[in-house]
Amino acid sequence: VPARAAGHTGPHPVVVAHRGASAYAPENTLAAVDKAAALDVEWVENDVQRTRDGELVVLHDDSLQRTTDVEEVFPDRSPWKVKDFTAAEIARLDAGSWFGPAYVGTRVPTLEQFLERMERHDQKLLLELKNPQLYPGIERETLKVLGNEGWLDPGHVGGRLVVQSFSADSVRTVHTLKPAVRTGLLGTPPVADLTAYAAFADQINPSHGSLSAPYVAAVRSLRGPHGARMEVLTWTVNDAAAARRVAGFGVDGIITNTPDVVRDAVGG
Ligand code: G3P
Ligand code: CA
Repeated sequence: VPARAAGHTGPHPVVVAHRGASAYAPENTLAAVDKAAALDVEWVENDVQRTRDGELVVLHDDSLQRTTDVEEVFPDRSPWKVKDFTAAEIARLDAGSWFGPAYVGTRVPTLEQFLERMERHDQKLLLELKNPQLYPGIERETLKVLGNEGWLDPGHVGGRLVVQSFSADSVRTVHTLKPAVRTGLLGTPPVADLTAYAAFADQINPSHGSLSAPYVAAVRSLRGPHGARMEVLTWTVNDAAAARRVAGFGVDGIITNTPDVVRDAVGG
C-alpha cells in the first residue's frame, strides 16, 4: 500500500475539510472545526492572515466584508482589509450571521484559538498562508505560534501539519526556517518545474479543474524534501462525481467543503 498524504496510509485519498466543514458551518470558524470533528474528519484546512497589530487570524478573504458584519460595525472603514484592523476590533465582529441564524455571535478566530480547538479534537492541520505578500514576515510569525502551541514538537510535527501557499517564495521560506515542517505549493505548475519545487515542497496542490492523471503521476514520481514521494491534494471537490474523478487520477487527498459527501464517494 503506498504511503498516503501527510502520514496516512491506506487505499483512499485523505479527506480534508476546506475552511473547516464549510458547507455546514461558517468557514474558518471554530464552529466549522467542530463540525469537521462531528463528522469524524481528521484534517482541516484554513487560511491565515495578519491584523494591523500583528495578530494572526483565520480568514479567507483579505477583506472582512463578505464573512463578517464589519460594514455595520465600522461603516467608515471601507474596503475593510484585515491588515487595517486591530485584533481587538476584529474580535467584536460577527462572523456567523451571514451563514445562518444558528451562528449569530460566532467570531473570527485567532490562529492560536483555532489550533487550541483543533488540539482538543486531536485534528490535523493544512494551514494556508493566504496573501503572504501582504504580510512580510508572516512565515516566521506563523511558525512561532505553531511552536508555542506545541504543533512543532518533535514526534508529531511531521504527521499532523502541512503549511501551504500559492506563493512559492513563502513555501520556500517556511522550509528554510523550519525544515521539519511539511509544505505544499498550491497551484498547477508546469511539469518541467516540478523538480525545482521538490527541493522545498512535499505536496503540489492544484485546483481539480486543472488536474489530469498524467499530471498526478508526474508529481508522485518525484521525492520531496523529506525523501518521501511527493503528494497531490486537490481542491475544492464538493460532489461525488468529481471526487470519484480525481480519486481515479490517484490523488493523495481531496480538499472539500462537504467531507461527508466525498468520504461516501471515495472512502477515506
Ligand atoms: O486548500 C486549497 C484552497 O483552499 C485554495 O483556494 O481560495 O479556497 O484558499 P482558496
Ligand atoms: Ca485556502
